[in-house]
Amino acid sequence: MASLPVIYVLNGPNLNLLGTREPEIYGADTLDEIAGQLEDRARALGVEVDIRQSNHEGHLIDWLQEAQAQGARAVILNAAGFTHSSVALRDAILAVSTPVIEVHLSNPQARESFRRRSLIAPAARGTIAGFGALSYLLALDAAARL
Ligand code: DQA
Repeated sequence: MASLPVIYVLNGPNLNLLGTREPEIYGADTLDEIAGQLEDRARALGVEVDIRQSNHEGHLIDWLQEAQAQGARAVILNAAGFTHSSVALRDAILAVSTPVIEVHLSNPQARESFRRRSLIAPAARGTIAGFGALSYLLALDAAARL
């Protein structure tokens, strides 16, 4: 049987704490629960998801490069706090040809001014933000159609 297209879902710092981390902003779902929703949706879409989280910038960069090397269809990236600070992560997105979809649970444009600048957005194929866990599912729908 031919293997399914793979979509990497990369999560940055502090997203391992979802569920208890500022739930009024980020919602009550844990990252494992979001992962379960993504796996169900992936089955329906006929794709495979590879879901990872790290608090370390370099891991996210290594995984972006790996996604390209493995021929992934797309990367869904919630770079969390690195969104607003990481030149290296932006460079990594520009260095690979794999399309990257930026996601956020919250809507950073509606929050503190330092969150309104994303270094990731200009390098990404598109951005989905503000829909809680649904942001990831919408990004997966988009990724599966690329
Ligand atoms: C976030 C928004 C970022 O500003 C913040 O640093 C995060 C989470 C989100 O998903 O809403 O850690 O990426």
